Amino acid sequence: MDRRDAWDRFYTAKEKGASCPGHFDWFFSYEDVSGFLLSFLQSSLAGRTQILDVGCGTSALSLGLFRDSPRQLRISCLDFSPPAIDSLRQLVRESPPPGHPLSELHCYLADATALTSTFEEGSFHLVLDKGTCDTLLRCPQGPGRAKTLVSECLRVLRPTGNLLQFSDEDPDARVPFLEQAGGGKVTVKEIAHISGICYYAYILSPGSSGTRGAVK
Ligand SMILES: C[S@@+](CC[C@H](N)C(=O)[O-])C[C@H]1O[C@@H](n2cnc3c(N)ncnc32)[C@H](O)[C@@H]1O
Repeated sequence: MDRRDAWDRFYTAKEKGASCPGHFDWFFSYEDVSGFLLSFLQSSLAGRTQILDVGCGTSALSLGLFRDSPRQLRISCLDFSPPAIDSLRQLVRESPPPGHPLSELHCYLADATALTSTFEEGSFHLVLDKGTCDTLLRCPQGPGRAKTLVSECLRVLRPTGNLLQFSDEDPDARVPFLEQAGGGKVTVKEIAHISGICYYAYILSPGSSGTRGAVK
C-alpha cells in the first residue's frame, strides 16, 4: 500500500454510494487517543502551535484536535491521494467551529517523502503520523522510503519539536528503526488495546540526546 493508485482506489471505494464523505480511521479512532493528544498539546507546547498530519487520509484525528483544543492551532493535513484530500476538504467545510477562534486547518495534496518542497524547514512544533510510516515500512522495496519519510518529517520540525507516530509495530522493531532513521530520543507509550492489539505512541525528539525512553 505504498502506491498512490492503490490509496486512490481505497478512498474512492470508501465514498462510493455514500451521500456525503465520512471519516475513515486506520488503527483506531480519534476518541481512543484524544485525551492523550490534548494533554500532550497542553503540557509540551505553548502559543500558536503548528501541527502537520502526514498521510492524513480522511482520518478524524486532526479535525478532532481542531475542534477540541483550546490552544490556537494551525494544522496542515497532507496526503498524496486526491480522493482522500477532496473528501477531507469537504469534511473540514462541514466541521463545527474550532476550539480556539483563531485556529486554522489546511489540506495539502503532496508527497510526504518530499515535504520540503511544500513546507519550509523548521516549520512545525509537532508532526503526527498515524499509520503512514507503517505503510512505507511494509512496502516491498524495504525501509528506504520510510527512512526518507522520517528524515523529511524531522527537516520540517522545529529544533524543539516532536515527531509523534502511532503504530501497532512492536517497540523492539520501531525504536531501533527510529533511532537509526532520526537519531534523538525515542519515548514509547502504550496508547490503546483494541481487539487484542496493542497500539503505541512513539515520540521522537530530535533535539534530545539519543537515550531510549521508558515503556509505560
Ligand atoms: C495507513 S493510512 C493512514 C491514514 C490516516 N493517517 C488514518 O489514521 O486513517 C496511510 C495514508 O498515507 C498516505 N500516504 C502513503 N504514502 C504517502 C506519501 N508518500 N505521501 C503522502 N501520503 C502518503 C495514504 O494515502 C494513506 O492515506
